[in-house]
Amino acid sequence: MRMVDIIEKKRNGEELTTEEIRFFVDGYTDGSIPDYQVSSLMMAIYFQDMNERERADLTMAMVESGDQIDLSGIEGIKVDKHSTGGVGDTTTLSLAAMVAAVGVPVAKMSGRGLGHTGGTIDKLESIKGFHVELSNEQFMKQVNEIGTAVIGQSGNLTPADKKLYALRDVTGTVPSIPLIASSIMSKKIAAGADAIVLDVKTGDGAFMKTYEDAKALAQAMVQIGNNVGRKTMAIISDMSQPLGFAIGNALEVKEAIDTLKGNGPKDLMELCYTLGSQMIVLGNKAKSLEEARVLLEEVVQNGKALDVFKKFITAQGGDASVVDDPSLLPQAKFQIELPAKQSGYVEKIEADDVGVAAMLLGAGRATKESTIDLAVGLVLHKKVGDSVKDGESLVTIHSNKEDIPEVIEKLYKHIIISNEPVEAPTLIKDIIK
Ligand code: URA
Ligand code: CA
Repeated sequence: MRMVDIIEKKRNGEELTTEEIRFFVDGYTDGSIPDYQVSSLMMAIYFQDMNERERADLTMAMVESGDQIDLSGIEGIKVDKHSTGGVGDTTTLSLAAMVAAVGVPVAKMSGRGLGHTGGTIDKLESIKGFHVELSNEQFMKQVNEIGTAVIGQSGNLTPADKKLYALRDVTGTVPSIPLIASSIMSKKIAAGADAIVLDVKTGDGAFMKTYEDAKALAQAMVQIGNNVGRKTMAIISDMSQPLGFAIGNALEVKEAIDTLKGNGPKDLMELCYTLGSQMIVLGNKAKSLEEARVLLEEVVQNGKALDVFKKFITAQGGDASVVDDPSLLPQAKFQIELPAKQSGYVEKIEADDVGVAAMLLGAGRATKESTIDLAVGLVLHKKVGDSVKDGESLVTIHSNKEDIPEVIEKLYKHIIISNEPVEAPTLIKDIIK
């Protein structure tokens, strides 16, 4: 087989066979096919697309390019959740405990963040003593006993995706539905999920800015999952403004605890119930999304979800007393209010820029080497559509520096107040199953 023939075939709009897809993925992974040929093929795929079968084949070729995690030591259907990423998204922390409390095991492999705030692991590390260094045996034992565990990324998962993504990044071939969908799905499948729930975000703070693009990606991923034997569902959710109120690591842990107590922000609670319902249906613990939601509301109301969270923290070395006393979490030196400059209605809280403001405080990493300040961040007091009075605080800024003119300027610029009433955006824009 010759790579040039595969490139020409795709360039001409023809379908690649399973063997041809396998050939270029394996050849690129082992270095026998050079960057320039693969970049040419990526561009051909960008323009000519891939059909359903090719997308499934590409996904599985990437899965099989490296290690696959074997979770068969865990009883039950292992359902994983993936979000395409947003600002202030604390969902995983609450969701894992909620879903585990209903009886669906959540065995999570997570990363650190490169972005506005840390990733799930960074956030959890704001709890004193918490660590993710578990052996595979400890990891599975904990999931069997408590219902959930979080472990850091280990092993050589989807090396083909790592190389392809890095190449696409510098060749203008990232925004291609078959390439994005197979990239994301390959990682979830290699991490051992039996079933997958996807939260595809749309809006200013999301990877997919428009609803149409988000929907196309969600449908592509659901199709891939189902075609390769992993039951998959998706939602499309709003990321035009940050999720919940808190943006920042320890601040988001507190928000997750509030959510598990049933007192979380309305949007975060709703998102947890919506995604959790899908996870419970896929985990075979309820027949319908409606039935699943009732089960989730129950474990929040009767404290079982919070109890799972405490056990999970303790099992991984953390101090679970933060659950009853969140003031034990790292605290920033200064709490600076941002007063509204006029009365009116909140028209926009631009997720991306507000996220950058949190990063400037130190809540996120600008580069892989940066360290994060777990205590700092933002707590919003308003969401889009809320009314506001002149002088009322829009945000409490948690900072370890007293003088933060660039953060204040950014927040004023990107929190927009209108004189006219504004409608709140719909959080759950679509459910795809
Ligand atoms: N995220 C991924 O993991 N892969 C892509 O291709 C794009 C976004
Ligand atoms: Ca939040």
